[in-house]
Amino acid sequence: MTKQSLYETLARELQSLFRDEHEMVCNMANFSSVAFHSLPDVSWAGFYRLCGGQLLLGPFQGKPACIRIPVGRGVCGTAAAKRRSVLVADVREFEGHIACDPDSRSELVVPLIDSEGRLRGVFDLDSTTIGRFDATDQQGIESLVKVFLKQTILAT
Ligand code: SME
Repeated sequence: MTKQSLYETLARELQSLFRDEHEMVCNMANFSSVAFHSLPDVSWAGFYRLCGGQLLLGPFQGKPACIRIPVGRGVCGTAAAKRRSVLVADVREFEGHIACDPDSRSELVVPLIDSEGRLRGVFDLDSTTIGRFDATDQQGIESLVKVFLKQTILAT
């Protein structure tokens, strides 16, 4: 299976998981689980929600993580501040990377922008392998995040 067809399969799986469910925590939890268990070589997959002007840890799969991240700090905070995905091939070369897990080597963060254009948080994927994520992963995760946003009522 190609990487692209894996993402297409996961998009269908999420559509069916979310078909009758719009509750934010449930959908974030199942989304993280699907990403963590179905994508190879991923060490952490989860959400940070924008709460009171900072990113607050949400549902995830993987080791315990940093709880609060200021917008503009680290890879997650940069994706939030710029409102665009950030792909980091080697976290040691990203100034300000926040090392929740010292074994993390590469990272992909996709912002959550609601239907009214407001930033609501980010989805973060980590790997212990340098260069684990590429443009196909970025497009794939962005398409999965779109499925999530379409089906989920985001709590404030
Ligand atoms: N490394 C991230 C922090 C979150 S964890 O990886 C789960 C960052 O630099 O924003």
